[in-house]
Amino acid sequence: MSFDPESVRGEFPILSRQVHGQPLVYLDNAASAQKPRAVIEAMTQVMEGSYANVHRGLHTLANETTEAYEAARESVRSLINAGSADEIVFTKGGTEAINLVASSFGLGLSAGDEILLSEMEHHANIVPWHFLRERKGVVLKFVPVTDDGRLDLAAFHALLGPRTRIVALTHMSNVLGTVNPVGEIIAAAHAAGVPVLLDGCQAVVHETVDVGALDVDFYAFSGHKLYGPTGIGALYGKAERLAALPPYQGGGEMIGHVMLDDITYGEPPHRFEAGTPPIVEAIGLGAAIEWLEGQDRAGIATHEHALYQRVKAQLAGANWLTEIGTAPGKGAIFSFNVEGAHAHDIAQLLDRYGVAVRAGTHCAEPLMRRFGVTASARASFALYNTEAEADAFVEALLKAQTFFA
Ligand SMILES: Cc1ncc(COP(=O)(O)O)c(C=O)c1O
Repeated sequence: MSFDPESVRGEFPILSRQVHGQPLVYLDNAASAQKPRAVIEAMTQVMEGSYANVHRGLHTLANETTEAYEAARESVRSLINAGSADEIVFTKGGTEAINLVASSFGLGLSAGDEILLSEMEHHANIVPWHFLRERKGVVLKFVPVTDDGRLDLAAFHALLGPRTRIVALTHMSNVLGTVNPVGEIIAAAHAAGVPVLLDGCQAVVHETVDVGALDVDFYAFSGHKLYGPTGIGALYGKAERLAALPPYQGGGEMIGHVMLDDITYGEPPHRFEAGTPPIVEAIGLGAAIEWLEGQDRAGIATHEHALYQRVKAQLAGANWLTEIGTAPGKGAIFSFNVEGAHAHDIAQLLDRYGVAVRAGTHCAEPLMRRFGVTASARASFALYNTEAEADAFVEALLKAQTFFA
């Protein structure tokens, strides 16, 4: 049985709204996905029913909320098959998760040490490393991207050198849809004694991620692309890696003891969760994961990919359209430019027809430069998108293009 988006659409209240008098066709899922009622209700329920601060109370509500918060950590553990919930640090998103590693791991780096990134990274996995370049004199090296949007693996192997201290790569590109061969990359990095951080913000939504099988050292992702709320994400770190990292931020709940002239720190993951965490958001993320794990994830992947192929097939004869990213096995992300049009104009015209797509640099300026463009438009598919919506997008794009023909 193939996955039927109609079986879940009713659970997403926002999908029934209209935009400019047309049914909403939401194809901006790589930026942020819509939320099922299960998530909205879980967050409302905790605030209405048993809300208090976590980890510090001796009363019933504090205990109930702490249990729910820690249950959400267990849901994240289960989603990515980590060995222990203590290897899951809640952050405010994928960006903060990467900043945490760059800041803490970076403390141990010296001038001339190398960080190996790629040209297809989101700024979230470039800028925190630039801080280390500016502040510590580390050297950033970038694996180039091929014309069809793959990592140049020969270049990766050549760039992995004696001064490489960490490899930090996206698991799936938010622009190209490319799913990187992370198994091969991790094996090569480990053979050279180098840890690997994967930016899983896109991949965790569409792939079954198993951090144990991957043997990855750090894995970062956001909740809001995974049908969960904003303001919450997670960093997975192997127990021994987290244990070796100094704290990222200071405050309540991350300490062992605080004296006037000395301090000791708590164990991971609490060492990295200073202050009151995003409690309601974490519980919302837990609900999103529980909801998603109740769906046919393999069927969803096939369904999303079929939508992408359907759009591609319908636009195959469009000589005015250039797609960016055509790697084999790529995910359901369609980035493109229309001849003579700026991507922003295309997105605004599509909006008139109720179709929401992203346009701009997608926080990936180096990648835009690599492909010689200043921007692109991007339609990205989620489990609730239908064939009729894919067709509506193509129809709207054909109409939009006539303005520039
Ligand atoms: C590949 C990738 N990495 C990192 C991010 C940053 O995620 P957030 O803004 O949720 O922290 C995004 C968001 O678009 C992304 O697509």
